[in-house]
Amino acid sequence: MKNISVIGSGTMGNGIAHVFAQHGHPVSLIDISQDALDRALTTISKNMDRQVGKGIITEDEKNQSLGRISTFTSLEDGVKSADLVVEAATENMNIKLDLFRKMDEFSPTSAILATNTSSISITKIAAVTKRPSQVIGMHFMNPVPVMKLVEVIRGYSTSDEVTVEIMTLSQNLGKEPVEVNDYPGFVANRILMPMINEAIYTLFEGVAGVSEIDTVMKLGMAHPMGPLQLADFIGLDVCLSILKVLHDGFGNPKYAPCPLLVNMVEAGFKGVKTGEGFYQYTKGSKDIVVAPRFIK
Ligand code: CAA
Repeated sequence: MKNISVIGSGTMGNGIAHVFAQHGHPVSLIDISQDALDRALTTISKNMDRQVGKGIITEDEKNQSLGRISTFTSLEDGVKSADLVVEAATENMNIKLDLFRKMDEFSPTSAILATNTSSISITKIAAVTKRPSQVIGMHFMNPVPVMKLVEVIRGYSTSDEVTVEIMTLSQNLGKEPVEVNDYPGFVANRILMPMINEAIYTLFEGVAGVSEIDTVMKLGMAHPMGPLQLADFIGLDVCLSILKVLHDGFGNPKYAPCPLLVNMVEAGFKGVKTGEGFYQYTKGSKDIVVAPRFIK
């Protein structure tokens, strides 16, 4: 598999394009707005500069990698010579189903269609295409150039051959792929989101404050970020929507989102991307600038 098309140029999409280009693949990066694509190229260039600074790649390799990325505002043009299309658009079922119908229509019939969804059913997405055996989940973690895991999710109809191809491709990107089956939340979010939700309940019930909860998990469990900071980093709206998928999918009240999380999302406090969640941020940076909003 050589030619990769990536749909969506946000945080995940630009990270995925970065990693494929860095590993020698021509990448077609697709988004509806040229401004978004230009911003994505600037972000990729800055993130590659960090790698140059650390000696992970040379300046020359950076320039070659950037040269492998072409941008498209037309999905039809962007996927027409793809061997693999990775969809990393907004986490919304109808948007994804619509994109997969178009990816199926315009990409070569041999192409594998992957989604970076964090919780939407691969089986359901595959069912709107004429090639369900070639549809698979390829769930990268944020920040994509740094995190080693790719959760490779087999839908009900995904073939063994396609699974092996995606596992091998992920290894060739320097990642550690893990194969899992398609049930709500897969593995990563089935375990991560209840932990984050419990941390929010712990705050909601007044057991401890934001920094206390995060400090316990950082220093006590060696997590690089506490669960509340991580929730801000992921996006509180994304956390809420994944919890709803778990709650609906299993029908078990243990997945019910904490009312504080629901309120924060409704009030527009979505974490790093809006400048405030459990902590406050300078817009566009994950670095905390103000102490927690909720004090014990
Ligand atoms: N591109 C390239 N390099 C990057 C980068 C990027 N986007 N972001 C960070 N880095 C590099 C930095 O250059 C730095 O390199 P060195 O270690 O060689 O110095 C390293 O990564 C650490 O970054 P920082 O110094 O900026 O900051 P940090 O030490 O606080 O680490 C972090 C930042 C890697 C994000 C770390 O806090 C962390 O691992 N956090 C948890 C991340 C996590 O859990 N991600 C999964 C979220 S869940 C998800 O993505 C899926 C889902 O479905 C919800």
